[in-house]
Amino acid sequence: MSNLLHNEFAPDSLEAKDLAHLLHPTTHLANHHRSGPTLHARAEGVYVWDGDGKQHLEGMAGLWCTALGYGEEELVQAAAEQMRKLSYSQLFTGKTNEPSILLAEKLKAMVPFDAGRVFFGLSGSDANDTQVKLMWYYHNLIGAPERKKIIARRLGYHGVTVASGSLTGLPPFHRQFDLPLPNVLHTDAPSYYHGALEGETEDDFTTRLANNLEDLIVAEGPQTIAAFIAEPVPGAGGVLVAPPGYYEKIQAVLRRHGIFFIDDEVICGFGRTGKPFGAETFGIEPTTMSVAKALSSAYLPISAVIVPEFMYEAFVQASRDVGIFGHGFTYSGHPVCAAVALRCLELMEERAVFDHAAAIGETFQARLQALADHPLVGDARGVGLMGAVELVANKATKAPFGADVGAGAHCVARALEHGLIVRNIGESVALCPPLIIDDKQVDELFGKLERALDDTLRHVNEF
Ligand SMILES: Cc1ncc(COP(=O)(O)O)c(C=O)c1O
Repeated sequence: MSNLLHNEFAPDSLEAKDLAHLLHPTTHLANHHRSGPTLHARAEGVYVWDGDGKQHLEGMAGLWCTALGYGEEELVQAAAEQMRKLSYSQLFTGKTNEPSILLAEKLKAMVPFDAGRVFFGLSGSDANDTQVKLMWYYHNLIGAPERKKIIARRLGYHGVTVASGSLTGLPPFHRQFDLPLPNVLHTDAPSYYHGALEGETEDDFTTRLANNLEDLIVAEGPQTIAAFIAEPVPGAGGVLVAPPGYYEKIQAVLRRHGIFFIDDEVICGFGRTGKPFGAETFGIEPTTMSVAKALSSAYLPISAVIVPEFMYEAFVQASRDVGIFGHGFTYSGHPVCAAVALRCLELMEERAVFDHAAAIGETFQARLQALADHPLVGDARGVGLMGAVELVANKATKAPFGADVGAGAHCVARALEHGLIVRNIGESVALCPPLIIDDKQVDELFGKLERALDDTLRHVNEF
């Protein structure tokens, strides 16, 4: 194994120990051993300092999650106080705790649909796993056991556990993992830039996608489909903003066949798209919802699955035959995570963070759209405070760069050099800054990104 260690790093350095001991999630492991790790040492507000003390602007809110930025003392206090008062408690067998109760109450009041009950987990993946189980459970309980299939979308991301990883529509999360599960189907991604046929208007495109969905449902048998799951904006698939009318047409199809809509708001929830929830930005009427990430601004792990009362009623009814509701985690409703999430949502209200994000989002989108004029940028897309620029070899034909050019990765590396953290998704460079970013920092972000794009243009020209 010693050849996997990087000889640039001193044997007792954190970098060398990283290479010796960690199995990194969602990382090209061979490249990691070549390039070595990037250490983050501390962070405050929208800035992160690396192991060498260099300051970076956080352009990705960590993994789309640090909505309130780093080092928020109010959240530190909320965690410390709750740890001192009741460091652990559970929700099994009817036990409960104050932060979980108040957080569930608050979430129900915030979400834009008729919410009945809230189930807590720890990650977006477990939330979506729970969604799948609840869809199966519910349909069994109401005497529709054949409604088992879930339709997700290609390029969607819903997590990595066995069920949520199956919903994810990105090949690296399936390949060699024996996924997806048989009951999971994938339909088109809502990306006009990638998916439109020659001469097709946005309206034609969304009509075709709705027809494809209908064809899939009819071919599989509508009575075999339990639910459709979608992120309002697929994030990890490349920040793919659906054209106007898409959700309206998709939902008309689902309604016709009595298929539920699982709204995965793990990225879009809590102000990211310019409204409190992506469902509001895009006119989605969810049956159930998953939230995580910004729910606690990533100070502690917590997720929630929110279900309508009619599903909960079926669960209560069933417990008379089935016995216990046999689902839950040791840390479902962890009081410290819940206390931090509750304080996070309160701070979002007290500081009008959603309004701030919506206003700053306009400046952000204007700067993003201006990048469409850059010779490398084939598509600049986004909504609210999320976006992406896609780098192409030929803007007219949308021809991509060869993998050997590595334009997206080069741009991200150059941005880091200029003190900006962004992430490439293939040849797209994604942006998702903390919601608390201000005008000056948006200017700094795009200034640095523009320099990175110019560097990348030189790189591709010299290649
Ligand atoms: C939309 C969406 N759903 C679910 C997940 C999975 O969340 P986690 O990584 O917390 O399991 C993610 C993670 O990025 C996500 O973006």
